Amino acid sequence: MQDLAGKHIVLGLSGGIACYKSAELCRLLVKAGATVQVVMTEAAAQFITPVTMQALSNRPVVTSQWDARAPNNMAHINLGREADAVLIAPASADLMAKLVHGRADDVLTLLCLARPAERVPLLLAPAMNREMWAHPATQRNLTQLRADGAVVLPVGQGDQACGETGDGRMLEPEQLLQGLMAQFQPKLLAGHRVLVTAGPTFEAIDPVRGITNHSSGKMGFAVARAAQEAGAEVTLVAGPVHLPTPLGVRRVNVQSALQMQAAVQAEVDRATVFVAAAAVADWRPATAADQKLKKDGSGLPPALHFVENPDILAGVAASDRARRGDLFCVGFAAESHDLLAHAQAKRVRKNVPLLVGNIGPATFGQDDNALLLVDAHGTRELPHAPKLDLARQLVADIARRLATPPRA
Ligand code: C5P
Repeated sequence: MQDLAGKHIVLGLSGGIACYKSAELCRLLVKAGATVQVVMTEAAAQFITPVTMQALSNRPVVTSQWDARAPNNMAHINLGREADAVLIAPASADLMAKLVHGRADDVLTLLCLARPAERVPLLLAPAMNREMWAHPATQRNLTQLRADGAVVLPVGQGDQACGETGDGRMLEPEQLLQGLMAQFQPKLLAGHRVLVTAGPTFEAIDPVRGITNHSSGKMGFAVARAAQEAGAEVTLVAGPVHLPTPLGVRRVNVQSALQMQAAVQAEVDRATVFVAAAAVADWRPATAADQKLKKDGSGLPPALHFVENPDILAGVAASDRARRGDLFCVGFAAESHDLLAHAQAKRVRKNVPLLVGNIGPATFGQDDNALLLVDAHGTRELPHAPKLDLARQLVADIARRLATPPRA
């Protein structure tokens, strides 16, 4: 998906060991369709060479305010004017302190100060030792930078190059790419709190076995990401899947349908939108054995008894808040055939205003899908496309419905 096609990004590097991640970030930006102009401070060039960054961005790197290549000899002015966004990764404690004070004694801080701030967003990906991160001076600077309009991306947590463990690691390149892409999405769900379920559930038979559904969780994760990009506060209740959490999304991991129901009930009172994309198992073993069931030599399988799981979506849709219109509920239906008829019937049965149908076997585990949106008045097809694309279209559709009072 060439999500950044036509975008010109200034990628700034200040000094820090996280510079090694910026090489990969540069590659990802180029792969996403952006043109990338790398700007490095002197300190950054101690960690990674401009040669590497030039090769990856396919453009000479700017390292000095005295770079005389531009005909007007004003690199710091031109750089900011040409950009659709400035992303500084890594943003060191020192660089951010300088930005707070409007200092401009190197080309990177100069261009930040000179950029047309109302048109060119500044994103900062901090990276530093945990003590430096926690220092009141750094935290004070972050608050000021946010107040001045900068987008301060979160930091990661874990092992640091200095041998310590804690907050302050720079996000991974893929997460930084997500943060930048989000910047270009319209904030259609600003102020909304969206709760999403995704993935399968796993219903234990014994400690080593269980029954589950086919579901990679990709569609639900894409919906969570698209809602976050659209400015919503997003909580994702995820069954057992191997997918990274979208940037800025709060994730609650569950295994079984009962756990998913409990997690949803704990969160749903705060939500204004509920999207049930999970493939919840319809049944669970009546009791899960606490020891592994063994073959007893008779050749007969064990008799398993199942009970029906609660319908999480139908339960939420029947709540007072949903019925009053304070909570907008969206269901998903994965069918193998007769999509329209099944989706329509399911929408009525679950009593939700919007149901999203898709052909399950065609999309399980894939990065693409096609959706059929069904409401009380008709249908809308979202043709075959990457799941993130479809999720963004779905989010835009939901936002329109939230803005429009329901038809009588
Ligand atoms: O009934 P069916 O599983 O086909 O309905 C699918 C929709 O209902 C999905 O939105 C799914 O997340 C939701 N669902 C649920 N709890 C269940 C079964 C399905 O929330 N026990």
